[in-house]
Amino acid sequence: MTKIEISTERASDIPMIHAVHSEAFETEAEARLVDRLRQSADPFLSLVARFGDVVVGHILFTPVHLADRGKAGLLGLAPMAVLPAFQGQGIGGQLIERGLAAARELGARGVVVLGHAAYYPRFGFRPASEFGLSNEFRAPAENFMALELVPDGLSAASGQVRYHAAFSGSA
Ligand SMILES: CC(C)(COP(=O)(O)OP(=O)(O)OC[C@H]1O[C@@H](n2cnc3c(N)ncnc32)[C@H](O)[C@@H]1OP(=O)(O)O)[C@@H](O)C(=O)NCCC(=O)NCCS
Repeated sequence: MTKIEISTERASDIPMIHAVHSEAFETEAEARLVDRLRQSADPFLSLVARFGDVVVGHILFTPVHLADRGKAGLLGLAPMAVLPAFQGQGIGGQLIERGLAAARELGARGVVVLGHAAYYPRFGFRPASEFGLSNEFRAPAENFMALELVPDGLSAASGQVRYHAAFSGSA
């Protein structure tokens, strides 16, 4: 496996993080989303995967809240990306594992993700519907998943999960 180091983002990583998302996704939308969230999300838990001096992968966690209950100590995992030439080598998996550990250290109770239903369950994610959680993006239920970071971390959570306003382009 490629020798990869995972660490919190540094200021000098910002242009490379933008490039990773631009190259991994079809449009620059996710790259721009990360830049908007950096201005306004708190916490902004941002980890990079580094190969030498080059950022080859990135994962971001920002706060989400529940429509009916407000803050519940939950983070949303989004977006994440690995440069196409580095995909399929376990780098995404390392970013998720390290990211979840950092989220737990921050005191988060759980994490939600909207993504590939075949990928995230291997890290412990289950359909968010099992916790009574729905998403605001009309995405298929199977693509919206959740993970408890502490025992019963999602037992008091239910209803619609709302992401930071930057996700709808309004912040
Ligand atoms: C998703 C992504 C971050 C995974 O990074 P990675 O370093 O390749 O991940 P890993 O090497 O840890 O794992 C690879 C696994 O991811 C799976 N995977 C990647 N893209 C997938 C997709 N669109 N649907 C389902 N599984 C997918 C691969 O099939 C592979 O599974 P396998 O181990 O059973 O063969 C990377 O493919 C990527 O940047 N994709 C483009 C951007 C994107 O879709 N981001 C995620 C939004 S939810």
